[in-house]
Amino acid sequence: MTMTYKNILTAKEAVGAKSGKADQPEINIGVVNLHRPTVLNALNHELMEELVTALEDFDRDDSVRAIVLTGSDRAFAAGADIKEMSDETTVSIMLKDRFATWDRIKNIKKPIIAAVSGFALGGGCELMMMCDIIIASETAQFGQPEINLGVIPGAGGTQRMTRVLGKYKAMELILTGRPLTAREALEMGLVNKVAPVELYLEEAKAMAKEIAAKSPIAVKLAKEAVLKSFDGPLQEGLQFERKNFYMLFSSEDQKEGMKAFMEKRKATFTGK
Ligand code: CAA
Repeated sequence: MTMTYKNILTAKEAVGAKSGKADQPEINIGVVNLHRPTVLNALNHELMEELVTALEDFDRDDSVRAIVLTGSDRAFAAGADIKEMSDETTVSIMLKDRFATWDRIKNIKKPIIAAVSGFALGGGCELMMMCDIIIASETAQFGQPEINLGVIPGAGGTQRMTRVLGKYKAMELILTGRPLTAREALEMGLVNKVAPVELYLEEAKAMAKEIAAKSPIAVKLAKEAVLKSFDGPLQEGLQFERKNFYMLFSSEDQKEGMKAFMEKRKATFTGK
């Protein structure tokens, strides 16, 4: 069944030519495009629900062997939707449990290859880091700018970025909010490969098709085993990070930081 979504586009692409033999299964890759172009693919709740539904559908579809997740050339995603959360309080944001949707992405068994161009900031960078392989365009920029809004990353950034970059680089990026260029990200091991903007998506699809041709059960178990190396302590870290993220919605700095963003002015933080 083909679903129609408001904030994403989905497609299946066949891998190789069909042999015509009845016993040869159909092999595809699934492609999901984040598609809120007017807000640089800001990740609101509705988009995240649609994204998870599409990923879970591809995960259940035996013909799909690998998934490509992409945005536009200008933005993979510029973060969680600031307008949607600016008025939240600690209690309201905890009750909404907005990251429950994100948690479901962790349970996708098929490999997800991120094809990233333009802004991959805040939740956009965190979503990218939940993927298994990352192909970036030369124009991509990566960062956790939440500190400029008076908050901290809330969807795994403090944990996943630190595991990839190590304490000191992660600390620098998370405390300054400064973004990395694609070349810097490649040197630091945050992305697998950098390609020209005309080619990054094709490269990601080619990688997905290469993996799609392998044994699906081996691919599934290999992904599961690699992820196992992160599991135990990561869960504790994620819970810890989430509590702190929620706590910040009691602060004046969060209100000021998000209000200033929407009013297109520089925030004045007081530490309260
Ligand atoms: N949420 C909501 N709207 C956003 C957005 C976001 N994260 N990022 C961009 N937009 C909107 C802008 O408000 C703007 O909308 P209007 O045209 O209605 O004003 C539109 O997208 C285009 O953005 P800009 O005009 O700002 O484009 P630019 O090229 O001048 O700047 C940018 C691009 C540097 C990415 C800038 O938009 C920006 O700084 N965005 C916010 C980045 C950010 O702070 N992300 C972290 C969010 S918090 C988070 O993600 C928490 C978490 O861990 C889960």
